[in-house]
Amino acid sequence: MPVSLYVHIPWCVSKCPYCDFNSHALHEPVDQGAYVDALLRDLDHEVARRPLPEIGSIFIGGGTPSLFKGVAIGRLLEGVTQRLHLARDVEITLEANPGAAEAAHFSDYRAAGVNRLSIGVQSLDDAKLQALGRIHSASEAVGAFCLARHAGFDNINLDMMYGLPAQTTVEMRADLRALLALQPEHVSWYELTLEPNTRFHHRPPPLPDEGQLVEMMEQGQAILAACGYRQYEISAYARDDRLCRHNLNYWRFGDYLGIGAGAHGKLTMPHYLVQRRSKQRRPAAYLSAVAQGALSSERSVGDHELPVEFMLNALRLSVGVPTDLFAQRTGLGEDALAAPLGQARRRGLMVDDPNRLEATPRGRRYLNDLLALFEPEAEQTG
Ligand SMILES: C[S@@+](CC[C@H](N)C(=O)[O-])C[C@H]1O[C@@H](n2cnc3c(N)ncnc32)[C@H](O)[C@@H]1O
Ligand code: SF4
Repeated sequence: MPVSLYVHIPWCVSKCPYCDFNSHALHEPVDQGAYVDALLRDLDHEVARRPLPEIGSIFIGGGTPSLFKGVAIGRLLEGVTQRLHLARDVEITLEANPGAAEAAHFSDYRAAGVNRLSIGVQSLDDAKLQALGRIHSASEAVGAFCLARHAGFDNINLDMMYGLPAQTTVEMRADLRALLALQPEHVSWYELTLEPNTRFHHRPPPLPDEGQLVEMMEQGQAILAACGYRQYEISAYARDDRLCRHNLNYWRFGDYLGIGAGAHGKLTMPHYLVQRRSKQRRPAAYLSAVAQGALSSERSVGDHELPVEFMLNALRLSVGVPTDLFAQRTGLGEDALAAPLGQARRRGLMVDDPNRLEATPRGRRYLNDLLALFEPEAEQTG
């Protein structure tokens, strides 16, 4: 089973009103060295759990990891290399915010071994960026992309959102076209959602209605396809097959270690015992508890929960997964899926191919209904 590593950096310059990630506005400078020490300690606890195979990918996400200096990221990756066996072609991604993107940082990240950048552009329309509470302008976002290219990054993801406050379909098209003119290798194109516990949720801005959102999605997908970006997951598009290996591992129900404040991990122990754990969310609590592992929760996933957990990931992929991956990842027989699978296929929600677990376009459109069939308590009828 492949294993990857997720590293969480929980600070941002300020908190965006739509964001429910574990990110905290910076009020004073962070001791980056102390946090890297804590991450490596956390990793020590993780590697003691069971022997690990080669690590295929590392994702340094946030928050805003680009707030950290190259020297801190370098020391982190050095410490990781000492503790884990990294694949020769390991993918190492770092998330950057254009408002916290310094030229010197970018070249230092590259020198430290980071080989993929993910830049949070969100929009290339200044009025929309302001409505989203972003700390950068459109030209700063383009500038960050150019800096990244200049620093030698040949594998760059750009994040953009649609369905923005008061956005029209015409504006969305212009926004997406401007992004694609930069020719990134990968685009993550998300519909803006109102997440509980965010400022937008408490005081929603005027958003496009359902009909407009469907129109935007269809037209945006057509633009991405016409520009050579193949959709391989609900929000992920790649050209020249530069898929994100790290995320693919999640969607294929692979294992991952999670280190850092609020990080989640999934590790399969002997006898297919799938364990999920998460770390203390608040940076101060995490830092003070890391010597003991900083665990916030740890639980074993029951056999009855594995079908829905597996499907929740696999069905996000446009081409789904081979049917035998289910047994490989969970140790369960395919009979554990038989009843809901039969029902989903009869209802035209999943492709009728015994060798694949793949949603039909209709299944992807009604993904929640489809997944509900795999819930342990779902009543299997018909
Ligand atoms: C963890 S954030 C990290 C990126 C970086 N901190 C930044 O904002 O530039 C990853 C991406 O999730 C997307 N995202 C965050 N909140 C969202 C929301 N409420 N709805 C849709 N997409 C969201 C954004 O595109 C964001 O770039
Ligand atoms: S910069 Fe990114 S992680 Fe930080 S608050 Fe904004 S969206 Fe969230």
